[in-house]
This record gives sequence, C-alpha cells and structure tokens, in this order.
Amino acid sequence: MGAGQQKIIIANWKMNKPDGALEEFFQTLDQEQTELVDLYLAPAFTMLPTVCAAANMRKFKVLAQNVHHQLQGAYTGEVSSLMLRELGVAGAIIGHSERRIHCHEDDELINAKLQTCIQQGLTPVLCVGETAAQRADFRAVLRQQTTLSGVDISKVVFAYEPVWAIGTGDTASDEHIHAVHAYLRSITATTARILYGGSVNANNARSLLNIAGVDGLLVGGASLVAASLLAICRATP
Ligand code: PGA
Repeated sequence: MGAGQQKIIIANWKMNKPDGALEEFFQTLDQEQTELVDLYLAPAFTMLPTVCAAANMRKFKVLAQNVHHQLQGAYTGEVSSLMLRELGVAGAIIGHSERRIHCHEDDELINAKLQTCIQQGLTPVLCVGETAAQRADFRAVLRQQTTLSGVDISKVVFAYEPVWAIGTGDTASDEHIHAVHAYLRSITATTARILYGGSVNANNARSLLNIAGVDGLLVGGASLVAASLLAICRATP
C-alpha cells in the first residue's frame, strides 16, 4: 500500500455520512495538497461508486469497510473482493473490532477474508487490538489475532486499535503504542506497515504520528469532517 514510506491515513466513516454533501467534502480536500500522505477513504458500500469516481480524479484511494470471504454465490447481503476490485476499490478493512463484536467475526473467518482479498489484488487492512478486560494481556491477544495461515503477510497492513480507545476519547499512551507497535513488528514482519487507531483527532494526530513505529492512522469520528481530516493529514511529520 503506497510505494514509499509515506504515512498512511485512513478515514473510516463507519455507518455514517460525512458532514455536508460528498462533493463539498471532496472540494475541501482539493484545497490542499494531500499527496504527502497516502490517504484512503473508507465509506459505506452505498457510497463506494461515488467515492471511487471522485478518487479517479484525485490523490486519495478507496477502501471498503468489510468484504466477504467468498468471491460469489448464495450469500445474501454480502459483497465480494471481486466486486470491490471491479469497482476500483483498493482494499478493505478487515476484522474491525466492531465487526468482531457485533457480527461475531472470529479469527478463522478473518483469515479467510484476508486470503481472498489478497488473491484479488486488494490490500487488506487487518485491525487488531485488546479489549479493556484484556489490557494486561495484550501480547497474547495480538499474537492470536496475527497468527495467520496461507496469508502473504507482506501484503497486509496492520492497524492497532485498542478496543477501549475506539470512540471513547481515550487514546492509548505513547509508551503503550510504542511498545505494541514494536511487539507487532516482531511477530509479523520488520517491514510491516502498522497504523494506530482509536480516538485520533486533529489535536493528537501529530504526536501519535511521531511515535516511532507508527506508520499512519486509522481515523473514525474525526474523519467525517473534511477540515479535520485535512488537519490530520497536515500533521504528518
Ligand atoms: P474513532 O474510531 O477514531 O472514532 O475512535 C476509530 C476506528 O474505529 O477505526
């Protein structure tokens, strides 16, 4: 994902529409140079065609927020990597904690999703992270969530998102993020791109991006306002 070592910023809109019309959002992004970061917008499925069309003329790329593990078939309500690829989507967020919790996605299913995504030439962004109850034991949780089979790990972007930090305003400490990213790198690949996510905003983005080992940010709530997403992009060291 991204040729050089630019920071990666992913806007995860979840089941929300951004503030204002999409066209206004893109126009605000146009006001500034965002090419110093690898920017990805991850809208809900219904917005993908519009956002992909806009991405053709601009610097950002597009991710889906989820993908099915089969390519086609009798899977009512699902969308496959093949369909995403045909639309011009660059990749998919996989294993977000909200899907692990609300949709009961387990590591086996997530592994299968990673495989088909990579087979289709899409970049999977694998979300991992401990819950508040697992905080003391985060290494075991992360080890389990990153123990993959039949997956070319060099094709995976990781996003460390402690569940207790998502949407709470409670970001992990710099020390914790530094320790986790170093640990993740040691159990995945030295070349792995590892993002941080969880209550990132325009005020804390710079210090988060300055933590050694943080290759970018996965942003939820603060990415719904174009000006705040731009401020986060601008915070890149
Ligand atoms: P948040 O969400 O930035 O609103 O905490 C991040 C995420 O869930 O990806």
